[in-house]
Amino acid sequence: MALFEVYPLYDIEPVSAEGVYITDAQGVSYLDLYGGHAVISIGHSHPHYIKRLKHQLDNIGFYSNSVVNPLQEKLALKLQSLSDCRDYKLFLCSTGAEANENALKLASFYTGKTKVIAFKNSFHGRTSAAVAVTDNSSIQAPINKIQPVEFLDLNDAQSFLKAIEDKEVCAVILEAVQGVGGLDQPTTEFYKLVSGKCREKDIILIADEVQSGFGRTGLFFGFQHHGIKPDLITIAKGMGNGFPVGGVLIHEQFESRHGMLGTTFGGNHLACTASISVLEVIEQEELMKNAAEMEKFFRSLASKIPQVIQVKGRGLMLGLEFDFEVAELRKKLIFDHRIFTGSSKNKKVLRILPALTIGKKEIERFFNALKEELI
Ligand SMILES: Cc1ncc(COP(=O)(O)O)c(C=O)c1O
Repeated sequence: MALFEVYPLYDIEPVSAEGVYITDAQGVSYLDLYGGHAVISIGHSHPHYIKRLKHQLDNIGFYSNSVVNPLQEKLALKLQSLSDCRDYKLFLCSTGAEANENALKLASFYTGKTKVIAFKNSFHGRTSAAVAVTDNSSIQAPINKIQPVEFLDLNDAQSFLKAIEDKEVCAVILEAVQGVGGLDQPTTEFYKLVSGKCREKDIILIADEVQSGFGRTGLFFGFQHHGIKPDLITIAKGMGNGFPVGGVLIHEQFESRHGMLGTTFGGNHLACTASISVLEVIEQEELMKNAAEMEKFFRSLASKIPQVIQVKGRGLMLGLEFDFEVAELRKKLIFDHRIFTGSSKNKKVLRILPALTIGKKEIERFFNALKEELI
């Protein structure tokens, strides 16, 4: 049976990986500044992560949500302690789209309404409600287009104030740093306006932290740079360092009932263990601090490259904006310099999403390669 081809592929086959390096089937080593799309948070094959997962597999890998699984509570407590999000409850699922799908459902259950306000260049996933609030009509099937959604320009206070006058609005969904869209961010003023108005009008504020969460921006969540408090927070990607795990932090104002949400795989033993060990490493190795420090170092080296128009993003969720499209440069970085980087909807932005363990040596290697290509 052939594969249903939906992915354009680079002809590289990784067979092993350690830290911020990947080795392919020919034994060639690559510096990974892409992290499998912001998924690798504590570094490839981290020894603590491997030890914990192997041990869990030797005991029990999976059972469904019909039995007691204390690992879920352990994960919720650890998450509360590192994120400092104290009055939330946790629902576990397996992907970012599923997290947003459940958050949107909760907002609709809670308010009894259907319309969502989202932002231009947003990406929230590919399931039904999540893709409907994603600003990319080419990935929406007709069935997804039925949902009422209004897309606004990020940071446009006037349009926002007008849009929330619609009595059918149940939720606003917002990324703290737009990942796929090209690293644009809401200003603190705008995020505060959105948060305040949502509270005033009983509209649910959903913070999509699928990519920006778990320490990537230098704080545990991206919204924490803006001093606001969302009603729902969605997580995935870096949460499992490659193990598929996602979740929704649900403010205590929401009442649960049996059967309201559910999933077969969400919160299974291996997924919880993966995420607990990620949190342990983030704490032990002070990776949020490292993300903030490496951002500073990255910016200082970027300022010496004349072709860089601006550095976008925060922490280790960064983008270099050039005045040319970066597709060719990315190919040269991969095939001539053995460095993986990412792309975005903005074709002039080169995306940098390394493991939070990255050091100065690797960042220097990247800028030396850039200089060779550009100067
Ligand atoms: C901000 C954001 N939300 C949601 C998703 C969807 O996550 P997943 O691919 O795990 O469904 C992504 C994926 O890139 C994302 O960047």
